[in-house]
Amino acid sequence: MVSEHEHAARVLVASNRGPVSYAFREDGTLDARRGGGGLVSGLSAIGPEADALWVCSALGDGDREAVRRGIGEPGVRMLDIDAAVHADAYNGIANSVLWFVHHMLYQTPLEPVFDAEFRRQWVAYEAYNQAFAQTLAEAAAPAAAVLVQDYHLALVPGMLRDLRPDLRIGHFSHTPWAPPEYFRMLPDDIAEQLLLGMLGANRLGFLTRRWLDAFQSCCRRVLTDHDVDPHWPKDGPPSLEYRLRGHRRRRTELGVHGLGADADFLRERSRRTDVDERMAALREQIGGDERGPGRRKTIVRVDRTELSKNIVRGLLAYRTLLDEHSEWRERVVHIAFAYPSRQDLAVYREYTAEVSRVAEEINARYGTPGWTPVLLHVKDDFARSLAAYRMADVALVNPIRDGMNLVAKEIPVVSEAGCALVLSREAGAYAELGDDALVVNPYDVTGTADALHQALSMPDAERSERSKRLAAAATALPPQQWFLDQLHALEALDEGVTEAG
Ligand code: G6P
Repeated sequence: MVSEHEHAARVLVASNRGPVSYAFREDGTLDARRGGGGLVSGLSAIGPEADALWVCSALGDGDREAVRRGIGEPGVRMLDIDAAVHADAYNGIANSVLWFVHHMLYQTPLEPVFDAEFRRQWVAYEAYNQAFAQTLAEAAAPAAAVLVQDYHLALVPGMLRDLRPDLRIGHFSHTPWAPPEYFRMLPDDIAEQLLLGMLGANRLGFLTRRWLDAFQSCCRRVLTDHDVDPHWPKDGPPSLEYRLRGHRRRRTELGVHGLGADADFLRERSRRTDVDERMAALREQIGGDERGPGRRKTIVRVDRTELSKNIVRGLLAYRTLLDEHSEWRERVVHIAFAYPSRQDLAVYREYTAEVSRVAEEINARYGTPGWTPVLLHVKDDFARSLAAYRMADVALVNPIRDGMNLVAKEIPVVSEAGCALVLSREAGAYAELGDDALVVNPYDVTGTADALHQALSMPDAERSERSKRLAAAATALPPQQWFLDQLHALEALDEGVTEAG
């Protein structure tokens, strides 16, 4: 199989969303846009001699056309999976089921309903995972390292293991992992298939110990019913041993890799002129004096308009602040960037509309001719996000559940005068930033309003000291090291199939 391929890759990454996407220009030609994010900068840590290949999905019409025209970036292979199959796998299973389970987003009196439609979509999810496994199996050099990303591709490790037992397979979860009480809402056979799919990997990575523990608990609860014998050794790296019916014991190693902010990139990028221009424009909108006692403070949040980010309760907390601490009226502005996400799903469209409605209501109720209390921007603009980071006095990061939340890590690094961080205890970042943040229960609107008041009232010296410590903790594991740690751990394993004897 492999010998047919002259350029078999030695390091492979697989993810739904790849490092590049294509959009049509007006004249019908294609424009390539390179994405950012931890994985892109992480992968840059290995040189060209590593023979890396990134396998991803073609996501829109532009991507599909690029595949058809044979346009591509070196080191990237886009899979043009049938659009209907992709929609069922991505919108149906990945984003409406697995994302909801891990973020505990269901409104349980009515959802979820696992019916024939779900089963139909599940078949598409299997086919989509199989397409990835097949491509990886064909492209990988003997004993290559394959780093599979996220809940979209939970079945890939098991499928790939069947096709290529020689490979070193890793899987990394960028989301939380659900506790067993919640995970077991999934039909038993599906829950089992997901866990066994993941356990096809030699190594599983998580963002925090909390999500790793939840995964272990799910294995213990789900798999013990099915002739699988999980075992947690006391010594050595955390791992999970189990025996499938009629097989020897196998071992999957587990690891925590708390992705950090990319300080070098952020500091350089945030000082470019396009960011300065955005700062000037934002200053206009904020109003008040540029410095001195008439300067308005800023509470900054930057999110995808994502149900788990808790943007509406954040706005309600800000409204409560203006109600209960009227001294802040005209003295603070809430900069809220909420960039559209997953708009194919009705529930996301409704949430986006609700965010705008609540922001408008606050502005109508409290705004004055010279003061707009909430500056809500919904058009994605990275330079403007960095401008807001630089100006932040307070960062508001209050997700109801989040794998890590890099915004919480990025703002203290970029903020010019140091910022106070109001942080949900349900974000993965809490494990590393909890000591110097003002920690909130994300459902507690009154408590969040109190934390905002405390953050705004924090003496400058204390805010700056805390912000420095936050920035140090936030950058402890830069993306390059995060990636290399996983790659080296995987390569250090003796052989593809880890038999525990
Ligand atoms: C989360 C997931 C990523 C995903 C991102 C954006 O961070 O862990 O895998 O790419 O959200 O979501 P989208 O559906 O737009 O790719």
